[in-house]
Amino acid sequence: MNPLAGIRSIRELPIENKRLFLRVDFNVPLDGARITDDSRIREALPTIKHALERGARVVCASHLGRPKKGPEAKYSLEPAALRLAELLGQDVTLPEDCVGDAAEKVVFDLRGGQVCLLENLRFHAEEEKDDEAFCKALAKLADVYVDDAFGCVHRAHASVHGLAMLFRERGCGFLLEKEIDALGKIVGAPERPYVAVLGGAKVSDKIAVVESLLERVSSLVIGGAMANTFLAARGKNMQASLVETDKLALARTILEKAQAKKVDVALPVDVVVAASTAATEGQPVSVDDVPPGKMALDIGPRSVADFTRRFADAKTVFWNGPMGLFEKPAFSAGTFAVARAMADSRAFTVVGGGDSAAAVHAAGGDVASKMSHISTGGGASLELVEGKKLPGIEILRTVAT
Ligand code: 3PG
Repeated sequence: MNPLAGIRSIRELPIENKRLFLRVDFNVPLDGARITDDSRIREALPTIKHALERGARVVCASHLGRPKKGPEAKYSLEPAALRLAELLGQDVTLPEDCVGDAAEKVVFDLRGGQVCLLENLRFHAEEEKDDEAFCKALAKLADVYVDDAFGCVHRAHASVHGLAMLFRERGCGFLLEKEIDALGKIVGAPERPYVAVLGGAKVSDKIAVVESLLERVSSLVIGGAMANTFLAARGKNMQASLVETDKLALARTILEKAQAKKVDVALPVDVVVAASTAATEGQPVSVDDVPPGKMALDIGPRSVADFTRRFADAKTVFWNGPMGLFEKPAFSAGTFAVARAMADSRAFTVVGGGDSAAAVHAAGGDVASKMSHISTGGGASLELVEGKKLPGIEILRTVAT
């Protein structure tokens, strides 16, 4: 099945001089009022520019963070509005609310080719409740609905779900289209050998995706802190390493299932250890000899070689979750080496969002540009790869699939 079946692209929608509600994902990392990574804003630019060039009155809307007490200055989208204005080279008005008089005044004053950004949708608890009255209040602001917020399509929230339903003219922006297309390739009929690399801290975050990947992949490579739990389940003494002791039985079951399905599972054979996460250097040791008091903070060089040899004949590689504490130079080598090898492989390579996307960018050189696709969505890309139907995508289809 074509993963985009029944979803219209913004190209096909009548947006000339129309008010366009454009759901973007400007949930960007902030240090105070400073945006530390503006990729999500940059990734939305092609759709915004396209709409402006076609004379639409563009009403961008997003959430930021997880405010729970109504409006809070630290969750204001003001930094995103300023950055968007800089990148577009034109004014971006930010009404103080996303619905009601303040929003309507700004939106109804827009002329073709002008853009505003509504204040944080999550300042209203109704957003996360997919509340009908809230959807109607948002719908008053526009004639056409376009979703380009891939990072949010796994949420059945008002602005990505109930609101879309209220528009006959609805569709996806270029970013969402690109994400659905690339991730759809690895969910539908991925070319084999298909290697999935999973990392990150917790087994519990990845259970569903591991179970689903076991049905599809040729090899499952597990690194990062979650590998500690699998290694402990295999009887290794991981000493002071982070191990989810309540997930040992689950890890054993997963390993048994993989064996029954003849899926090759690769766990680290060596790890880089230190006394604490504050250490500035580590020491590679075999997983059979982790010294007392030490914790694994990266995969070691033998593991890198073992993991990456699987990329040589792979046709598809999916990666989600770093191999270690890559934010610290002493523990970044494993993650960066896996990223580099993946970028150099001839496979169709897809990087899940969140930490893995950050790691690929931090790896430097041409690593990021050589990946086939780097997703902007963390949770959304994992749920899609699990094979789930996501509310924010399904609601855009004008014909059911
Ligand atoms: C993300 O950052 O993954 C998306 O913006 C969704 O945010 P949420 O996890 O707070 O819903």
